[in-house]
Amino acid sequence: FAQKLEGEHVFRGVLHHSVMLTEGTEEQKKFDSLQMSANDCIVATYPKSGTTWMQEIVWLIYNGVDIEKAKQSPLDERCPFMEIAPKIDFITDMQSPKLLKTHLLHLGLPTSFLNKSNDSRPRIVYVARNPKDVAVSFYHFYRSNKSLGNFNRGWNEFFEMFISGYVVFGDWFSHVITWYETAKKDSTILFIKYEDMKRNSLEEISKIAKFLGKDISTEMLETLYDHTKFESMKKNPMVTFAKNPSIDSSISPFLRKGEIGDWKNYFTVAQNERFMDIYNEKMKDTDLSFQFE
Ligand code: A3P
Repeated sequence: FAQKLEGEHVFRGVLHHSVMLTEGTEEQKKFDSLQMSANDCIVATYPKSGTTWMQEIVWLIYNGVDIEKAKQSPLDERCPFMEIAPKIDFITDMQSPKLLKTHLLHLGLPTSFLNKSNDSRPRIVYVARNPKDVAVSFYHFYRSNKSLGNFNRGWNEFFEMFISGYVVFGDWFSHVITWYETAKKDSTILFIKYEDMKRNSLEEISKIAKFLGKDISTEMLETLYDHTKFESMKKNPMVTFAKNPSIDSSISPFLRKGEIGDWKNYFTVAQNERFMDIYNEKMKDTDLSFQFE
C-alpha cells in the first residue's frame, strides 16, 4: 500500500517530502545554527495530535492573551513549522520570543542548542494523542493534502500504511515513546496529552503557562479557553489553513471533528484487535498510557 511522496527522503530519522529539510543543504546548516533561548518555545508533536491547538494556546500565553493581535496574522506565521526548507530564513530572522512548531524527533532538533545547559535551551511542549484517533485524523489529512502524494485510497489502505510507519514523520510508537522517555529526564520538556486537554482544558492550560513561566489570571485563562475551544477555532480563519493551497477543505476540513473516540467509526473489529496487539507489544516497556474514549 506504499504511497510514494514527491521528493521522499529521510531526515533525522523521520520520513520527509520535497519541501522539508534535506541533509547537506544550506538550509540544513542554517537550521543547525538556529539560535534559541529559554525564552523561546517549540511545540512538538507527531502529526494530527493537536499541534495547531497547542500552537494557538502557547502563542496567546506568550502574548498576554491578546485575542485581537492573534486574529491579525495566520498561526503559521506566528508559530512557523521549523523543518520546512523555504521558511528557514524567516525563522532565523524571527525576534525572540521565537515560537516554533516541529514534528521531528528530539534528537533531530538543531545541534546549536541541543547540548547546551537547560537555561540556554528553548522550552518544549510535546502533545501526544491516542494513536487510533491520530490514524483516523491522519487518514483525512492525507486525503485532503495534495502534498502528501495525492492519496486517493480508502481507510483500509491507510490503516496498513499507518501501522507499518510508512507515513510522513514515520512510526507513531517510536516518536511518542522516545519523546516521553526524554521528557521524563529533561525539565525543559512538558509532555501533555490531547485527551487531558479535552477533558481538563483549564487545568492543562494553567500547567502550560506555569511551565512557560508566564502569569495568567483566571480571567485571561477563561478568555484563552474560550478562544481555543474547538468550536471557536473552527470559525477562525487564522488557524484553519483555509487559505493553504495544498489543502482542499472540501475533501476534509483541517479542524475536522476534534473528538476523542472517532476511531470507532473507522476501525473494524479485526483492525482494532491487530492494532491493540501491536500497541501492547510496543508499549510494554513504558509507563505511558492513553485513553481511547
Ligand atoms: P480531527 O481530525 O480528529 O478532528 P494537528 O494540528 O496536529 O494537525 O491536529 C489536528 C487535529 O486536532 C484534528 O483532529 C483537529 O480537529 C484537532 N483540533 C484542532 N484544534 C482543536 C481544538 N481546539 N480542540 C480539539 N481538537 C482540535
